[in-house]
Amino acid sequence: MSDSPLKYGLAAGVGALATGIALTLSGSTGEDYSSTSSSKIFKSHASKHITVFVSGAAGQIGYSLLPLLCSGQVFGPNTQITLNLLDITPALPVLSGVLMELEDGAYPLLRGVQITDKPEEALKGADVAIFTGGMPRKQGMERKDLISANVKIFREQGQAMEKVASKACKVLVVANPANTNCFILRANAPSIPTENFTCLTRLDFNRALTQVAMKAKCKVTDIQNVTIWGNHSATQYPDAASATVRVKGEFKPAPKVIDDDSWLQSTFITTVQQRGKAVIDARKQSSAMSAAKAIGDHIRTWLVTGTEPGCTVPMGVVSDGSYGIQKGLVFSFPLHIDTPGQFKIAQGFTISEFAQKMLTATEEELKAERIDAEAALKG
Ligand SMILES: NC(=O)c1ccc[n+]([C@@H]2O[C@H](COP(=O)([O-])OP(=O)(O)OC[C@H]3O[C@@H](n4cnc5c(N)ncnc54)[C@H](O)[C@@H]3O)[C@@H](O)[C@H]2O)c1
Repeated sequence: MSDSPLKYGLAAGVGALATGIALTLSGSTGEDYSSTSSSKIFKSHASKHITVFVSGAAGQIGYSLLPLLCSGQVFGPNTQITLNLLDITPALPVLSGVLMELEDGAYPLLRGVQITDKPEEALKGADVAIFTGGMPRKQGMERKDLISANVKIFREQGQAMEKVASKACKVLVVANPANTNCFILRANAPSIPTENFTCLTRLDFNRALTQVAMKAKCKVTDIQNVTIWGNHSATQYPDAASATVRVKGEFKPAPKVIDDDSWLQSTFITTVQQRGKAVIDARKQSSAMSAAKAIGDHIRTWLVTGTEPGCTVPMGVVSDGSYGIQKGLVFSFPLHIDTPGQFKIAQGFTISEFAQKMLTATEEELKAERIDAEAALKG
């Protein structure tokens, strides 16, 4: 592969965008978007435009995520989108096939696509950056080795962000170890505000919602304030103690409606914690369709719709010390998003002695990951 990236999209028009929070979107120039090289032309008359960076775009999640982004289901039906897609050099031929499929989708909202193996090119002008790219865990690989390989990738990409990214760029880290990768990314892009960095625990939340709905025999839309605490790993704490369930039009405490504390403190938790492994065992590949759905949900709630009054969603965010969690760790908390683009860590969730043990266990794991990550970067 030559040094220069394959480039199918044009830089012109890419990234003429948002200042300020959330999707404060610039108006469309009304221009068509075309390239001079391998000509890619997309036309649209929608009224807003954003640039979305996706790393690991040639991977499984990318394949399910990109159509969701282009369809308008995440950013809405009036937002045009330019995709800046990053992957490693050997994956560029696959990514060029993905590009062809995006063209063949004839998405009215898709204004342009750029594919590259250069982080700085892909991050330039991005309003939203979704990091799914990383080294997967291989057979016989220790967790430490996985951390070591991935934090080096995230250091490099954080440095690229610091150099070229918009200070308003909103970040979602998906690649595992998601919390610690996000921690390293943020540490290497210090001029981008702390509150712009998040990692994905929405998939765990969606899994938890469905488990509670099946147990309480209700719809997922009848449940509020289930949450996920801590690390996106098997130590996470899926928590329904502060949740409510709508019964005959009235919200009641979930533990009362479910009336099975032992299920809530064992089967519910382990099912959600182990769900990723269960999918791999069955499918021989990790969750991708549900992960892409969760990424869309995370971005839409955070940046487009916010949460309903009194409701929360969990995201991995930089701890401010709430619930006694070490400041600076990227930890999943329940959040209120009253204004799209801004979140507040929800206070007042019930922390029983049992819950405290669960929180401490997942916090300890994150502290240990941080030590391993920092050691790997020094070595
Ligand atoms: N947080 C969550 O809820 C959640 C859920 C599912 C999967 N994941 C994680 O998401 C990641 C992606 O999953 P997938 O199934 O798409 O994996 P995948 O292996 O199919 O795709 C990963 C892609 O990343 C690319 N990549 C590797 N190194 C890169 C680098 N330095 N820069 C850019 N791209 C790079 C690979 O070439 C590949 O195309 C994995 O780390 C997985 O563990 C997280």
